[in-house]
Amino acid sequence: MRVTIFGATGLLGKELMRAWTGDSVTGLNSRDADIRDAERVQEAVLDTRPEWIVLAAAYTDVDGCESNQELAFAVNRDGAINVATAAKAAGARLLFLSSDYVFDGRKTSPYETGDKRNPQSVYGRTKAEAEIKLLELMPECCIARTSWLFGTGGKCFPDSILKLAGSRPALDVVNDQRGCPTYAVDLARAIVQLCRKNAEGIVHVNNTGDCTWFEFARAIVTSAGLATTIRPVNSQQFARPAPRPAYSVLSPASLRSLGIEMPPWPDALGRYLEQRHS
Ligand SMILES: NC(=O)c1ccc[n+]([C@@H]2O[C@H](COP(=O)([O-])OP(=O)(O)OC[C@H]3O[C@@H](n4cnc5c(N)ncnc54)[C@H](OP(=O)(O)O)[C@@H]3O)[C@@H](O)[C@H]2O)c1
Repeated sequence: MRVTIFGATGLLGKELMRAWTGDSVTGLNSRDADIRDAERVQEAVLDTRPEWIVLAAAYTDVDGCESNQELAFAVNRDGAINVATAAKAAGARLLFLSSDYVFDGRKTSPYETGDKRNPQSVYGRTKAEAEIKLLELMPECCIARTSWLFGTGGKCFPDSILKLAGSRPALDVVNDQRGCPTYAVDLARAIVQLCRKNAEGIVHVNNTGDCTWFEFARAIVTSAGLATTIRPVNSQQFARPAPRPAYSVLSPASLRSLGIEMPPWPDALGRYLEQRHS
């Protein structure tokens, strides 16, 4: 199988490039093909002749999206449309990475794939609008929603906590946002399986189990053997430009129905810490 990955240099993209063995995989970054440039995207797809395209490229700075709305929509929505248009013209399948931030966070039980989108942030809106456009353009595309990504390939929450914990006796972390941490290694493996299984429609792909950022931070310092105290605070004490959903736990039912199981997040955290130290 020939596969083309847009966003191959990101946190997920790097793990996808590592995980995807046994197929012919081309990884592209923003210099190879800026997804805002429809012609360049089309050329890249024609050159690489993929059977599957994985679109992991995005403007992922959630707070930055609030102040750079034009850029956020140009990359995350219009760029995704450019890739889908090129995929359709070339007869390639498409897997698009989306986010738990398409939901408003008002539910108290895990979000299923058919639950109503109601994004609260610009980033969430760009992803929600991209999902809708892509499903119109290419109903057979696969939309993999994930959440709270971490890994060794870039900036992420565990890395920030470990760096701060090294220099501070105590850290304040929000305890009123609940979600599912997801290890880029596990997500990459699941994406490979989804493509090989010819998956269609919306799928939720995250490590199992859920926690608050406070609980996640506490597990990170404990697992790393650090003595730093983690103190729970609420979001109002920790104001940020983009509102985050209070609850964005994604149900594993859609992934399980395809025969794919993700490990629990504490197990994933342990493997991340090992990978970070190796
Ligand atoms: N991080 C999370 O917590 C999270 C949660 C839910 C969903 N997601 C989604 O999962 C996917 C992967 O996220 P990630 O954290 O791996 O992203 P990331 O580390 O920020 O990497 C972004 C990737 O996109 C590329 N890119 C950015 N702008 C581009 C453009 N205009 N044209 C072409 N390529 C461009 C970057 O290329 P350069 O290296 O050349 O800049 C890089 O390869 C994204 O769709 C993201 O929205 C992430």
